[in-house]
Amino acid sequence: MFSWLTSSRAPVNNLHDLQFDMHCHLLPGIDDGPESIEESLAIIKAMVAAGYRGAICTSHIFPEVYDNKADDMLRGVDSLQSALEQNKIDFTLRASAEYMVDGPFIELAKAKNLLAFGKKNYVVIETGFTQENPYIDEAIYEMQCAGYCPILAHPERYIYLSQLKSVEAFEKIIDKGIELQINLFSLLGLYGRLSKEVAEILLKNNFIRWIGTDIHRSQHITLLQKANNLRILCNSMRDNPIQNKYLAESI
Ligand SMILES: [Fe+2]
Repeated sequence: MFSWLTSSRAPVNNLHDLQFDMHCHLLPGIDDGPESIEESLAIIKAMVAAGYRGAICTSHIFPEVYDNKADDMLRGVDSLQSALEQNKIDFTLRASAEYMVDGPFIELAKAKNLLAFGKKNYVVIETGFTQENPYIDEAIYEMQCAGYCPILAHPERYIYLSQLKSVEAFEKIIDKGIELQINLFSLLGLYGRLSKEVAEILLKNNFIRWIGTDIHRSQHITLLQKANNLRILCNSMRDNPIQNKYLAESI
């Protein structure tokens, strides 16, 4: 009886269950995200339609590439939130950043000047895609001393990690107290077959605590509805301690 409720053909609504995105580039004109406020609003409207209630805005802080400061993020979020209200779009924004791990980042961590979110003072960090980052161990140490919890963005996209296809390599990262976040669109193959395969392995091993869209531009809006119906994500969220929805308590 009621077997249709658990049938593999039952509809799923992953993004409604996640509720909050915690890695996205929604602020216009400050990194490689939207070029205008209109584009930001179009992306957010699509996120609302797909089931999201809010997002942590994580535009890049990457000295000499995207030379943003915390104040730029805070001002950007204030301005975009006002535009949402004017357009009667019910969606909550909070300011944070996607920090490139480098020397200046370590100084920000030591000075407790990172824009964190959530109950454990989460901070999203990234490294270059091709080579191991020489600052990573010192950065993690200083972050933890300062009371931050690091989230490594899209580990499935780092070639130096993913080409190993080694569960142990990811376990070592988790053992350092780093939480892992995969990109939603990795599961759809946006970044290639290897990233998709590794993202699936990480999910199936219960290594993933966070799912981020990492959405940058409006051309990726159509992927949101496709991701909403992904069976692998639905199954994983049932068994996995994915944390996105708990941001409701602190956002
Ligand atoms: Fe990102």
